[in-house]
Amino acid sequence: MITERNHRASSPGQKRLCYPASQEWCQQTTFGGRGITTERQLCVRNYLRFFNLWLQNPTHIGAVVPSGKNLAAAMAAEIDPAAPGAVIELGGGTGSITAALLQRGIAPKDLVVIEREPSLCEIIRKRFPDIRLICGDARELKQLLAAAGITHVKAVVSGLPLLSLSKEVERDILHQCFAVLPPEGFLMQFTYVPRPPVGRAIAAELNLAATRTAWVLDNIPPSTVWIYRRRADEVDLKQSA
Ligand SMILES: C[S@@+](CC[C@H](N)C(=O)[O-])C[C@H]1O[C@@H](n2cnc3c(N)ncnc32)[C@H](O)[C@@H]1O
Repeated sequence: MITERNHRASSPGQKRLCYPASQEWCQQTTFGGRGITTERQLCVRNYLRFFNLWLQNPTHIGAVVPSGKNLAAAMAAEIDPAAPGAVIELGGGTGSITAALLQRGIAPKDLVVIEREPSLCEIIRKRFPDIRLICGDARELKQLLAAAGITHVKAVVSGLPLLSLSKEVERDILHQCFAVLPPEGFLMQFTYVPRPPVGRAIAAELNLAATRTAWVLDNIPPSTVWIYRRRADEVDLKQSA
């Protein structure tokens, strides 16, 4: 959002940290003049921490910068805040998608974020003290949710870098997700490549149908959002079991 203050501060001649229009909350951060506000300072520090983590372990982090606002909003729009059950966010990062889910109207007590990297957990805890944060590995999702007493899940929203994970890890995580989802539940995943993010063999094993729900061209990098659901015959089987 460009506030009047931001607008004035970004007048010609001042140095500006340029993020694309939708890249979360440190857009229009300025140096000089009034200086950097504490909130913006914090935001830039979070971006730098994310980038540093990516430098240390690119395959684990999977992105150079956190998701932009439009991508996060496109994902959050797919969730019905009125439906009962918890929303599980995998790979919370600095909290871009978490913020959009809360803005969408998901109650903080119904939002469970799983993030493996302790320094990112610290950022999320500070930004969103009321949500349920689990600092742990998505490969152990079932066990983590059981230990936290979470029994009814309506959707899993994944920010995990699925494409940079090994097939073995991807398979484990996907199986865990569909073990905690009820027959009508779904998994949402964004990806930077044009093809579906879940490997074909794994989708077949779990009998999943994929639907592309959004293209977000102004994200860095441009992204698409996919939803995976059990195919109708699988749902029938599960419901009659
Ligand atoms: C591409 S970043 C996305 C961050 C954030 N959701 C966003 O959209 O900006 C992937 C995140 O997944 C986390 N991650 C990767 N593997 C994980 C795992 N097995 N369990 C939990 N978190 C994981 C990384 O630490 C990183 O924060």
